[in-house]
Amino acid sequence: MEARMKAIIVRRPGFAEPEEGADGRPPAPGRVRVRVRYAGVGWADVMAVRGGYPLAPRRPFSPGYEFYGTVEEAGDPGGAGRSGGGFAPGTRVLGLLPRMGAYREFVDVDARLAAPVPDSVGDETAALLPLNYLTAFALITRLAALEKGQSFFIHGAAGGVGTAALELARILGLKAYGTASIEKHCLVSSLGGLPLARKEDSWMGELARSEPGGVDAAFDSFGVPSFRKSWKILKPGGILACYGLAPSLNGGPRDFLAGLLWAGAKNIMAGGKRVRICSVPGLMARDPLWFRPSLERILAWAASGALNPVSAGIHEWRRVAEAHRELAEGRMRGKLLLDFSR
Ligand SMILES: NC(=O)c1ccc[n+]([C@@H]2O[C@H](COP(=O)([O-])OP(=O)(O)OC[C@H]3O[C@@H](n4cnc5c(N)ncnc54)[C@H](OP(=O)(O)O)[C@@H]3O)[C@@H](O)[C@H]2O)c1
Repeated sequence: MEARMKAIIVRRPGFAEPEEGADGRPPAPGRVRVRVRYAGVGWADVMAVRGGYPLAPRRPFSPGYEFYGTVEEAGDPGGAGRSGGGFAPGTRVLGLLPRMGAYREFVDVDARLAAPVPDSVGDETAALLPLNYLTAFALITRLAALEKGQSFFIHGAAGGVGTAALELARILGLKAYGTASIEKHCLVSSLGGLPLARKEDSWMGELARSEPGGVDAAFDSFGVPSFRKSWKILKPGGILACYGLAPSLNGGPRDFLAGLLWAGAKNIMAGGKRVRICSVPGLMARDPLWFRPSLERILAWAASGALNPVSAGIHEWRRVAEAHRELAEGRMRGKLLLDFSR
């Protein structure tokens, strides 16, 4: 008899609906089948459901880039460098799917895109790590290549990527500034960041008073109007790393194109500053060897207790609409998870 699988499927714009359907295929060579316990909820998921995320798969699709769970079955190793057989059933793993599809009870994933979770890292902690910490790690260590003592600014500092960036800043000895709504400033401070008010751009003046020469890097995901301001607060030689291109969750291809064109133009007449575009799924495709060691470094920090990712709560998988509403209303602090075990 075929297994029944829980999944969130988008069949029409604006609706991510819980379904239970058939799924019984064994994993192909070099791949593993993972029973998902938690899938992370991110900004891109909500955009993809609404229809404005150019990197979303064609409908019908399941949103979600990241998963945490246990290996159900491993395919044959599948050739040199591939290790589908390297995971024993029951191994706790986390990972990313480069083209979404993680909002489901079982995922079939390239074994190179999953990493085993050390015993000392709890289930929820592990589930909070993949996308946000890899994004923050890429921004800090790869795109801006910051070194101890340098400074950065980030928008949404109390959100998923923002809190991850603040935690990594503390470990790497960086000075971090970030905007957040006033009621989230305590969280930003508790993570070692210097909170700034987003309202009416007062953050720009506050930042200029603390860093008159500008910051070494700015991390911004909110589109061209926001990039223009982040560009101004960079010191000469500074880097603006854009890790999202839409000002709102309703963004669409036009925002993405505008962001790419703006970045290209700035780099032609940069005057010492540079713009870089960061996409973790893109990095995974371009440089697969970057992914696993980066994730393992993050997991090692988590295992040593140096990382304590901020949880915005766990929703039972059927309550996906409520989870997305929470994200859209900006109420979240840290990261929200969907639980597929209930
Ligand atoms: N490049 C990649 O590979 C990658 C990977 C993961 C995420 N991302 C991107 O990272 C961004 C943040 O994702 P997330 O999951 O961390 O989101 P999140 O947890 O929902 O946090 C976002 C927070 O940013 C603030 N914000 C909203 N609109 C803003 C604006 N126009 N200007 C400044 N701040 C604003 C809000 O907090 P306050 O109201 O407190 O300010 C909001 O809660 C998204 O654009 C997402 O697509 C990119």
